[in-house]
Amino acid sequence: MKYIALIMSLVVGLVAEAEITKEMKAQYQRPDTIPFPADNPYQAEKAALGKMLFFDPRLSINQNISCATCHNPSFGWEQALPLAVGAQNTALGRHNPTILNLAWGDKFFWDGRAATLEEQALGPIQSDVEMNMPLDVLIERVSGIEGYRPYFNSIFSEGITAETIAKAIATFERTVVSGPSPFDRWIEGDESALSDSAKRGFELFNGKAKCSACHSGWNFTDNKFHDIGLPTLDEGRFVIDPSSELNRHAFKTPGLRNITHRAPYMHNGSLANLDAVLVHYLSGGLPRPSRSADIGFLPLMNDDLTDLKAFLHTLQGEDQPMSLPALPL
Ligand code: HEC
Ligand code: HEC
Repeated sequence: MKYIALIMSLVVGLVAEAEITKEMKAQYQRPDTIPFPADNPYQAEKAALGKMLFFDPRLSINQNISCATCHNPSFGWEQALPLAVGAQNTALGRHNPTILNLAWGDKFFWDGRAATLEEQALGPIQSDVEMNMPLDVLIERVSGIEGYRPYFNSIFSEGITAETIAKAIATFERTVVSGPSPFDRWIEGDESALSDSAKRGFELFNGKAKCSACHSGWNFTDNKFHDIGLPTLDEGRFVIDPSSELNRHAFKTPGLRNITHRAPYMHNGSLANLDAVLVHYLSGGLPRPSRSADIGFLPLMNDDLTDLKAFLHTLQGEDQPMSLPALPL
């Protein structure tokens, strides 16, 4: 009887574990389609126009810096610098976030101060430290490029305005999606797509290491704001929403797709590589009142960190190289 009970509990244990894994895995399933808002629906020509604008340095006052300068596809749509460098050739206050998978985003910028990608796009164009381009000069400049006119006129009845420029750029941005990765193949059932170490890393990510408390879903973000205990004077979300003390030093959870190509890390680019990121989470950083309850000393061993890192590497998509658009003259 004792043995039967033991075997039974083993079988139940195995089944329970398998069930958890299946549930867990279901939460990370890639979506089939990209969501577009009703007031700016997808159109292939609009995305193509947005791509040209995204790569066009003429959108900056000195015609020397484009969105892609700072959101460079070769670096996971970021810049390999701790702090972004803009039109004045001086460092900005924050690191460039990626524009990958933002169609599923909710609030934009590290502190979430823009509600939509359309609203976001006009920010860097006008910012004196980024592209430094007043909107009236922008419209004059783009209208003066003859080759742009047929695109705008066929897509938008309003022609060239700040809003139509923003709509085209936002449409292009929504098409920038990280490609399927070994992790996705594993989620689809290919057991050989991940090493044993990476599978243990996934378990830790969802278990002892508590990463999935914030890095949840297929893009590995809850789109919320947290203080993870990094040394910083930046008040983050608190400046936008001072209603909660927990917003102090809180920043938007970045998605983790293609993370190996996106160093350095964090809102201030203060962590040079993934090892430094894991060491930070191991210690829990600064224990201040605003720090998230899900952050603190983690009881992990060296092997655990190796496994977590192996898992993070499996999120690298097999992306097609991004072609550069020929710009209208
Ligand atoms: C000088 C470098 C620079 C340029 C040029 C630039 N950006 Fe950014 N971008 C940044 C930085 C830095 C941030 C983060 C700022 C913050 O959160 O306060 C950012 C944030 C963003 C975000 C928010 C991402 C998120 O996860 O919330 C989007 C989208 C974006 N930029 C798109 C653009 C577009 C479109 C252009 C061109 C019109 C552009 N950027 C030009 C540096 C730049
Ligand atoms: C309490 C929520 C929370 C938990 C738990 C958490 N993260 Fe984060 N993660 C964030 C936030 C917020 C940031 C950005 C913080 C900043 O820049 O100040 C971030 C940043 C990162 C970055 C850098 C991304 C980038 O684009 O710079 C990586 C990598 C990362 N986390 C991995 C992990 C791993 C691995 C774990 C588990 C050991 C983990 N996170 C646990 C919320 C969390």
